[in-house]
Amino acid sequence: MTLIIAIDGPAASGKGTLARRLAAALDLPYLDTGLLYRAVGRRLLEQGGDPADAEKAAWAARAVQPDDIQRPGLRSPEIDAAASRVAAVPAVRAALLDFQREFGNRRGAVLDGRDIGTVVFPGAAVKLFVTASLAERARRRWLELRSRGVDADLDQVAADLRARDAQDETRAAAPLRPASDAILLDTTRLDPEAAFAEAMKAVTVMGKE
Ligand code: DC
Repeated sequence: MTLIIAIDGPAASGKGTLARRLAAALDLPYLDTGLLYRAVGRRLLEQGGDPADAEKAAWAARAVQPDDIQRPGLRSPEIDAAASRVAAVPAVRAALLDFQREFGNRRGAVLDGRDIGTVVFPGAAVKLFVTASLAERARRRWLELRSRGVDADLDQVAADLRARDAQDETRAAAPLRPASDAILLDTTRLDPEAAFAEAMKAVTVMGKE
């Protein structure tokens, strides 16, 4: 049986760092599903398309190739916003579903995103919903931008995160919300090491059920 670990949560909650560590510790493949939506957003921007144009977004999603998520530069603020817009289009989500399921079903996986435990793998053995306060998430994102040499304003970073949360939580198609059987992990006061230790406890308990 393949082990699927679904990790969902808002931007900059620490879910990516955690998912990567879990995958390495458990020797499972890892997929950052946000990169798929980012690749769709980038394709649209490159073609001069409007991310709010549902038809063009669906076309871009069907054209996305596995290599697209390896390209550098997918984490710019423009692509943050475009990814969140295209992710609200049901046809975009539908076009990306098979890729995610095939990736997980090959030999199990850790996948992180917004709807892994609710839509992509509702039967996942382990589901974690990772959160942190908006102020802490903004601080982390701001530090990350600075470490990449981007001179960002902390208040603007917080405002962008708030807007993206609202967009991801209120869309009709697969909105960001915890699965009813997910374990909640608030990382506001946890460093990556402590978050990993908590998650491993959950894996041990849920993985056995
Ligand atoms: O995790 P991220 O910040 O790289 O995700 C970028 C955007 O993609 C995010 O605003 C919401 C969307 N997304 C989604 O709707 N479903 C997923 N499984 C992953 C990401």
